[in-house]
Amino acid sequence: MKTSSKRRAIRSAAAPAVTQFPGSFPLIKRGHATYWPDLLDDHDSIASLDENLMDKFIIRGGNPLVGTIRVSGAKNAALPAMAASILTEEPVILENIPDVRDIRTERSLLQSMGAEVELAYGGDVHRTSLCCRNLSNPEAAYDLVKTMRASTLVLGPLIARTGRARVSLPGGCAIGARPIDLHIKGLERLGAKITQEHGYIEASAERLHGGQITFDKITVTGTEDLMMAAALADGETVMENCAREPEVSDLASLLNKMGAHITGAGTSTIKIRGVKKLGGAHHRIIPDRIEAGTFIIAASLTGGDLTVADCDPSHLGALFNKLQECGVAFSFNADSVSITNGHTLKAADISTEEYPGFPTDMQAQYMALATQAEGSTVVTENIFENRFMHAQELVRMGANIRVEGRRAVVRGRTPLSAAAVQCSDLRASASLVIAALVAEGETVLDRVYHIDRGYERIEEKLRAVGAQIERIGELFPKKSPSPVGVA
Ligand code: EPZ
Repeated sequence: MKTSSKRRAIRSAAAPAVTQFPGSFPLIKRGHATYWPDLLDDHDSIASLDENLMDKFIIRGGNPLVGTIRVSGAKNAALPAMAASILTEEPVILENIPDVRDIRTERSLLQSMGAEVELAYGGDVHRTSLCCRNLSNPEAAYDLVKTMRASTLVLGPLIARTGRARVSLPGGCAIGARPIDLHIKGLERLGAKITQEHGYIEASAERLHGGQITFDKITVTGTEDLMMAAALADGETVMENCAREPEVSDLASLLNKMGAHITGAGTSTIKIRGVKKLGGAHHRIIPDRIEAGTFIIAASLTGGDLTVADCDPSHLGALFNKLQECGVAFSFNADSVSITNGHTLKAADISTEEYPGFPTDMQAQYMALATQAEGSTVVTENIFENRFMHAQELVRMGANIRVEGRRAVVRGRTPLSAAAVQCSDLRASASLVIAALVAEGETVLDRVYHIDRGYERIEEKLRAVGAQIERIGELFPKKSPSPVGVA
């Protein structure tokens, strides 16, 4: 039987089975995913399973989230912390590293330079040990940088430690142009000679020296990159208009454990007195405030009683303010937030800003909430110029959203119904998962590799608190099937 008709048979066979969810269809469990049995008949396909690039989620909406869900370590704190290991010959041990795709990319990047990186998982010990004693190849190749822009965080540390670096320019991104001109400008202020050839930044410096840097625009990884470079520079560096994100403070605390002299992290003025040499350190990464915020919004929408544990509520002030305005009932203590059921959501506008303002990384998830709030919500995206890709997918599910440039007007409350939708970037994917949890019917979410970049086993975590969500692996790209009952 020709493959396509076989797959059609399987798919049509599969669709009704899927509605009965796990166990109703002889699916093969491998790792965290479930696969169509007959597609596992050649080794290549088995090898490519790890890539799970074709995975989808099938989500049946309507189930309240009940119980306790745990937050992993912050991807956006782990990535700069791993890059910081370049600054020393001694081992750096990091705890609470999330098991997400971007961390594996960072590992490959550092290993390609000659670093020894061990990602140890199992149980809840997410420990990573890194040693950059032998950095034979201070280069970040295009193949890796194109899959993860944060790879450019190695630029400052490489110049500071080895005196040279060759780093691919990241190129375009789904959510905006995202240039790194402010990183380059800052490094030139510290004495680096920088040229650009064939899509690569070529940088060199005998030894960086201290200097005065004022960022034209607040940039998170720009602040982190320059802070790392200045830590080994000769003399003092004063940086103004810095990012104040908790991830920046977490990096400064790691660097100070390594022997750096950094003050003011978490404020817009950071002072760094450079040292000749940095040592190893043992550091626990902060919890992921965006993952926590994603679960808090999911609970606010699905009507359940959920505790989001192992997070840091002090990092979530802007979100809490908005949820209060929306009428969500919640409480929190030192390391968890509890959302209780029984509130009617009211519309409340948001405008994304740098920390401590409303985070752009929560904008998409908040838009999903706004579709279920009574009234009109104006969502203004001030950080990235193209971060409404999720809006049209939400409209496919029945939402009423009008996008005008960097503003979107969401009219609520509109019941959502299941549809075949596509992920376009990390946070847009989270927004679609949340929408599918409240939609009527079964939503098929395509390209979930976007969500695997920054959420650790999200489907397992959500299933453990009552969501009906299944990961389906497909090896060969095909037109995504329309979910059961939706023409
Ligand atoms: C960090 O990206 C985060 N990534 C992003 O999270 C987050 O959305 C962003 O900060 C804003 O909070 C990591 O920490 C790895 P920026 P970053 O430099 O540092 C412009 C996620 O979902 N800009 O603060 O790259 C830029 O275009 C990701 O986890 C320049 O013009 O963001 C943007 O408009 C997505 N020139 C603004 O500044 C530069 O040299 C803020 O960007 C640098 C930035």
